[in-house]
Amino acid sequence: MRRMKRIVVGVTGASGTLYAKRLIEAITKTNYVEMYLIISDTAKTVARLEEVELSGYPVHYEENCDFTAGIASGSFLFDAMVVVPCSMKSLAAIANGHSTTLIARAADVALKERRKLILVLRETPYSRVHLVNMLAAHDAGATIMPASPPLYTHPQTINDLADTIVSRVLDHCGISHAIGSRWKE
Ligand SMILES: Cc1cc2nc3c(=O)[nH]c(=O)nc-3n(C[C@H](O)[C@H](O)[C@H](O)COP(=O)(O)O)c2cc1C
Repeated sequence: MRRMKRIVVGVTGASGTLYAKRLIEAITKTNYVEMYLIISDTAKTVARLEEVELSGYPVHYEENCDFTAGIASGSFLFDAMVVVPCSMKSLAAIANGHSTTLIARAADVALKERRKLILVLRETPYSRVHLVNMLAAHDAGATIMPASPPLYTHPQTINDLADTIVSRVLDHCGISHAIGSRWKE
């Protein structure tokens, strides 16, 4: 029997928790995607500071310290993982296989099982350390997708701005959507 599509979403303590919220909302509107959501402690603090609510969605909430969770094992099938926003600390952990959080471990699983892993990074400027870690993660199979929204689509609201990134994440996860418009379509 064909199962629902499964997406793991990790939210870490970089600025831009709104990207996570908009992605969760877009995915929970579909009726064929099951979501496993992990929010780091710092992400909870940043979400509070950014006045973004990440609780109460019909998803599987996982604790970032719970290595007994299904998504910590390669035998538990999921289709893709998105870390959004992805801090430089979590990038470092993922790029170096330092899996001391469930987010880093699930990302490690995605890489070793050759599943899609999208890192929506947020920092500016980038140091050499960040750039080296990005290249390491890229070479290990991750997609580096910085949260750098385009302006040529004339986003009118902060949600529109966030959705320019969310729509690209959905495209890469193979989830159909009607967010925004496509160039020349
Ligand atoms: C308000 C606030 C904004 C932050 N923004 C960023 C950011 O944009 N990028 C980043 O790499 N770290 C940022 N940090 C620092 C991370 O939260 C910190 O490195 C933390 O250890 C990340 O842990 P985590 O990846 O496990 O969530 C921010 C922290 C705070 C409190």
